[in-house]
Amino acid sequence: MTEPNGTSNSTDNTSTARSSESNPADDEFTVTPYAVDGTVDYAKLLERFGADPLTDDQIDRFPDQPMLRRRTFYAGRDADRYLEAVESDEPHAIVTGRGPSGPMHLGHVLPLYLAKRFQQATGATVYVPLSDDEKFLAKEQSFESIGAYTRENLRDILAVGFDPERTRIVVDTADSDVIYPIAVRLAKHLTPATVDAVYGQQDTVGLQFYPAVQATHLLLPQLVAGRQPTLVPVAVDQDPHVRVCRDVAAKDALPVEKPGALLGRFLPSLDGPGKMSSSGDAPSIELTADPETVAETIRTHAYTGGRATLEEHREHGGDPAVDVPFQYLRFFFENDDERLERIAADYRSGDLLSGELKEIAIDRITGFLTAHQQRRSKLGSLEEALEPYRLTEQERRRALERAGVPSGLES
Ligand code: TRP
Repeated sequence: MTEPNGTSNSTDNTSTARSSESNPADDEFTVTPYAVDGTVDYAKLLERFGADPLTDDQIDRFPDQPMLRRRTFYAGRDADRYLEAVESDEPHAIVTGRGPSGPMHLGHVLPLYLAKRFQQATGATVYVPLSDDEKFLAKEQSFESIGAYTRENLRDILAVGFDPERTRIVVDTADSDVIYPIAVRLAKHLTPATVDAVYGQQDTVGLQFYPAVQATHLLLPQLVAGRQPTLVPVAVDQDPHVRVCRDVAAKDALPVEKPGALLGRFLPSLDGPGKMSSSGDAPSIELTADPETVAETIRTHAYTGGRATLEEHREHGGDPAVDVPFQYLRFFFENDDERLERIAADYRSGDLLSGELKEIAIDRITGFLTAHQQRRSKLGSLEEALEPYRLTEQERRRALERAGVPSGLES
């Protein structure tokens, strides 16, 4: 097993997996958008979900990207449809969203930066929906608190630096004029039995309805701008939403095609697979963390694949496959394949110590965060920074028209 296995009891539903005290047997694990439990077998999960591992050919055809080469994003749905549109220069879109129930962490940037790099490489339209309604329903939090996180998260999403000409950001409660009527139309095809089967029992009818909202997100680029292949890069726990969307899209006569998906592994939590901090939660690194905090957190908490003593390490070497600082480099923070391979080789041979490997990870992560934070601090007022990314009046009208919803009360 060379992949870090996230085990999680995550109700936080981030892309960061957590360790859980009661580890069920290896083949017993749960992955839904609302619960990740047990040791995730990523290959088995694809059989369960009915998604396909990415082929070498597909990886070659996507814009060149360490996250794909290294199979951080390792599976998909209808990837070929999307690639055909890219190759023939036809319109194509990406949707990847955020549930704003807390500060954003390192794990959250993977799909966002993937979307940005694809946009730069092939001109993809990118939609980033924020499901504040979902998080209000799923968490013990007031709308006020979710609203504050929504604003903070929007700053982080804007700091990614998407092209405003080709990017739209929507917030469910703020853009309900367009989202709600479409969600209602889709909800007509969604039975409680389906929701139960896909998500397990939900606590409220609000959460039972929400899949229709996320299905709306995934169809929005096509409703605004016409039928086109749409790719949804997400951590694999979000695949059920994609599946439900594909089902309801097929049942409805909307002028859209089913969205495809690019499914990612969970960035391991800092305390690593099979480890558990007393609070139950490993500290995670927030996108606004300053370099000293990042360094301190990694030095104290990162699980390593090093040996118990210096002597042993020099003699037998460390194991990069379970070393969390190395895995962070591999997942996202070291772009250069040769450098990454050299680090792995030096670690295996015992030339590189765990503490030294941690310092390399600290250097790459703080370098990334400093650039992100600089762009974030230049944003100024949120309203003004967000404005160029909001749906225009015309785009709203088009989406409602395509969904067969009359706008307003005029006859
Ligand atoms: N449900 C996602 C989460 O909890 C956030 C989200 C909303 C999303 N809409 C989306 C993700 C569309 C991908 C695509 O993290």
